[in-house]
Amino acid sequence: MAIQFDSTNRVFHLTTKHTSYLFSVFDHNYLYTAYYGRKLRGTPDLSRLWQKYPSGFSPNYEGAPDVNYALDIIPTEYPAYGGGDFRCPAVGVQFENGSRIIDPQYVSHTITDGSEELEGLPSLSGGDQTLEVLLRDEPTGLAIVLKYIVFEDIDVITRSARIINKTGAPVTVTEALSMSMDLPIADYDMIGLYGAHIRERQIDRSPMRHGTQSVGSRRGTSSHHHNPFMAFAEKTATEEQGSVYGISLIYSGNWIGRAEVDPFGGARVQMGIHPAGFAWRLADGETFVTPEAVMTYSAEGLGQMSRNFHNAYRYHLGHTKRRNVRRPIVINNWEATYFDFDEEKLLGIIESCKGLGIDTFVLDDGWFGHRDTDNSSLGDWFVHTGKLPHGLTPLIEKCEEQGMTFGLWFEPEMISEDSELYRAHPDWALKQDGRPFCRGRQQLILDLSREDVLEYLEKTVGGVLKNNRISYVKWDMNRHFTEAYSAALPPERQGEVFHRFVLNLYRFMAYLTENFPDVVFEGCSGGGGRFDPGILYYQPQIWTSDDSDAIERLKIQYGTSMVYPPQSMTAHVSASPNHQMNRVTPYNTRALVAMSASFGYEFNPLQLTDEERLAIKTQTERYRKVSDMVLKGDFYRLQNPFETNACAWMFVLPDKSKACAVYVRQLNLPADPVTVLKFRGLDPEATYHIEELDADFGGDELMYAGVALPHLWDFEATCFTLTKK
Ligand code: DGJ
Repeated sequence: MAIQFDSTNRVFHLTTKHTSYLFSVFDHNYLYTAYYGRKLRGTPDLSRLWQKYPSGFSPNYEGAPDVNYALDIIPTEYPAYGGGDFRCPAVGVQFENGSRIIDPQYVSHTITDGSEELEGLPSLSGGDQTLEVLLRDEPTGLAIVLKYIVFEDIDVITRSARIINKTGAPVTVTEALSMSMDLPIADYDMIGLYGAHIRERQIDRSPMRHGTQSVGSRRGTSSHHHNPFMAFAEKTATEEQGSVYGISLIYSGNWIGRAEVDPFGGARVQMGIHPAGFAWRLADGETFVTPEAVMTYSAEGLGQMSRNFHNAYRYHLGHTKRRNVRRPIVINNWEATYFDFDEEKLLGIIESCKGLGIDTFVLDDGWFGHRDTDNSSLGDWFVHTGKLPHGLTPLIEKCEEQGMTFGLWFEPEMISEDSELYRAHPDWALKQDGRPFCRGRQQLILDLSREDVLEYLEKTVGGVLKNNRISYVKWDMNRHFTEAYSAALPPERQGEVFHRFVLNLYRFMAYLTENFPDVVFEGCSGGGGRFDPGILYYQPQIWTSDDSDAIERLKIQYGTSMVYPPQSMTAHVSASPNHQMNRVTPYNTRALVAMSASFGYEFNPLQLTDEERLAIKTQTERYRKVSDMVLKGDFYRLQNPFETNACAWMFVLPDKSKACAVYVRQLNLPADPVTVLKFRGLDPEATYHIEELDADFGGDELMYAGVALPHLWDFEATCFTLTKK
């Protein structure tokens, strides 16, 4: 049983293969967070570890056994504000009478086999058991259901909450986080993935300090700036050892992750929808559902934490049909042409892909309305006849003649002021009449919280997909929210705009994936500005960054791999010198970096030399050979590009029969001491043949002694392909 309840001591014990999560019903039916860590036997009542101490200025709740019992110092599962816990709350509600005081206490619980996905929100499926705990604020009747799902094999527990208005009058939910957990000791480093456009998901590791530290986004999307993830690692934890807690949120809108270190050395960690600008009206009888938080604990360092997340997102997220299927090798025309193309130019590009081993040509921005630059036409999802007088058909036919398929770019969530759509419906943009408004990339956000907008998108974007043979969609989103005011919502619902937008975005994505089940959807938001599990649920790969430079990608892809499986990252070989960095890197390096993800190209094939064409043919052949490892392999980070002059990683198939490793030198250094690469994850008892060295080695030898690396100049790379004998 993954979930046990000891009814004598009223202890819940959630177990996975290697971990235990315990909480209990404590004095006065408060939920006491007892333990998260290595697996424990039995169902110990760990609330006995609580040390009574009189804490000045920590008020005692009514009926508390003695002066030591104060909510301010009791570790709590889902804290609220107003009744004596002054730390960050997980939930906030304003009642009809203006009161914001709530005091949720345990009422009952259910344990069921299996799991159900959340209603209206992407979440994991295929859990082993589900626990739902009902809490109630007695004076008002407000109910809260805490939901826990256990995924035993992959050491994952998910959490979410439902707030049910049973008060007899409307209430406003002002805060509703997905999880809260009080750790007894705050002696950890907090790890986050911060970044910016073209520099996403860099790793930040800083010691926790007293007070509240937080990451998050108020930009309307999960954003380039922080990723909806945080980890708490023992100070000595490394890739391979030490305790690490990881928390990831399946959500694409405003979010917060925070840790509050209290004066007594404990830490409250929380994650969920950002409360800034959030206020959700709940009529009597209605329910608010929070997004799902995915938690994992690893006693074997960051590497195992990441592999647990990878398994959760590879095997339990999104439609089963789209999981772990080999992705097409694409060529995208953005960096080849930008907006400057016409039918003839595109036909030439497609023609020159012949014989390269590419599966799909993707036509990027600029094919619709009268879009010749980024100041117009978003929302006008019909062909730009100035550039493509015969529509998309000649391009599609040209692709098919060569055994390729055709893909198309959309940016459905946007509207340009210079568009037929805006001229007809100026009120469909998020903005407030009588108030100046910001433009981002000269565009406005389409108000997806409106039902009529959703219908329009289904008709137009859906229409293009219906009427053309399109196998691949790149879905972009190129600005953040300002003046988030909807002309369609009443005053008391304006605090719902951000979340309604996200809910309807998911509805629209669900509509498209259900109606066009064979289309591969690729997410994008100015590169990796919305690289989150909410999007991955519908769109199994995301353009990782607008920075396509292989050396910058080392850090971006390394950081992204903390949470997301390499197959979820799109990576392309682009031109050299690189358009973002002006850096010159060898073809081999660009290919090896891109091949460690969902692979493709982003340059003008008409400009290739014969030698380069041959190299590409070899690369696409190699990718077909190794793509199984990218999809199904366990991922090991071998060398950290943030801390060393190199970056290395490897994939190992779960049965350890095959593996491949890549090592990339950043700058060449005189007398650089790193000359040996040690592998991980192999079978120590087995013998492996390394194709590139044409030699056999013991798995133990490869992991503990390593292989000598060839001399590598600036930005050069090498790879090893291993087969068990
Ligand atoms: C931003 C994307 O990240 C790019 O790849 C490209 O699609 C442009 N938008 C097009 O406008």
